[in-house]
Amino acid sequence: MKRKKKRLVPVLCLAVLAVLAYARWVEPSFIRTGRYSVTAQLSVEPCRVVFFSDTHFGKNYSGEKASAVAKAVNACEPDIVIFGGDLLDNYARDKYELDLDLICEAFASIEAPGGKFAVWGNHDYGGGASRIYEDVMAAGGFRVLNDESVLLEQYGVRVVGYDDTLMGRTAPSLYELHSGEFLIVAAHEPEVSLQLSGAEDALVLSGHTHGGQVNLPVLTERLLPPGSGPFRKGFYPAGSKDGQQYSTYVTSGLGTTQIPLRFLAVPEIVEITIVPGAQNA
Ligand SMILES: [Fe+2]
Repeated sequence: MKRKKKRLVPVLCLAVLAVLAYARWVEPSFIRTGRYSVTAQLSVEPCRVVFFSDTHFGKNYSGEKASAVAKAVNACEPDIVIFGGDLLDNYARDKYELDLDLICEAFASIEAPGGKFAVWGNHDYGGGASRIYEDVMAAGGFRVLNDESVLLEQYGVRVVGYDDTLMGRTAPSLYELHSGEFLIVAAHEPEVSLQLSGAEDALVLSGHTHGGQVNLPVLTERLLPPGSGPFRKGFYPAGSKDGQQYSTYVTSGLGTTQIPLRFLAVPEIVEITIVPGAQNA
């Protein structure tokens, strides 16, 4: 019995080391493309939206990776591109080693005839990041929607972007939506989805959770950051979580924060095709 235990210990140590090495150097380097289709119950022209979020550029996700992200986005041939916030991880810590020009150039190379939009994340506020966030995104051709919306007439959809709910200043009354068009709502924290009402049909796009970032049984659910609500990652049909009114996609994002590890939360961009419902087709 003792001999078996003795043999088991080094095997377990090796297994833990292998998982750590995978979580540190393998999984964070992936960029997966998730593909989904959403049926709008309002009249829309079919369009392809690419959503990406939580790059957390900094010492653990260098600006050099921005070009790979841009290539993955362009490979989807999007009509509309939306960035969900947390561009930078910790600007005060990383500003001297971070090459913002690389990020601007890469983002500027993203092509989307319907437009490129972004919202604020909580990390875009801290450590002086709030002074540069909108400028970096603008240099990359992204319009930051701060409690604003834009009607894209060619597709019959309206893109709504909210300020970050943890660090920003969105009046709760703004979560009451008014629109006759299909809405694509971008809000960094997915908990916002529970507060939205008033629209006939909408798709909510959020990030923030990093899909748990390091997924361990029981523990991860308890360690999700404030603002996550009941969401972790993936597609949540309308009404599936605490009665949220609109379909919600929560992306795992791309970079890391706190610890440079990812486990069972593969970095991703998301391609969502909006198609008209049967009665509108
Ligand atoms: Fe984040």
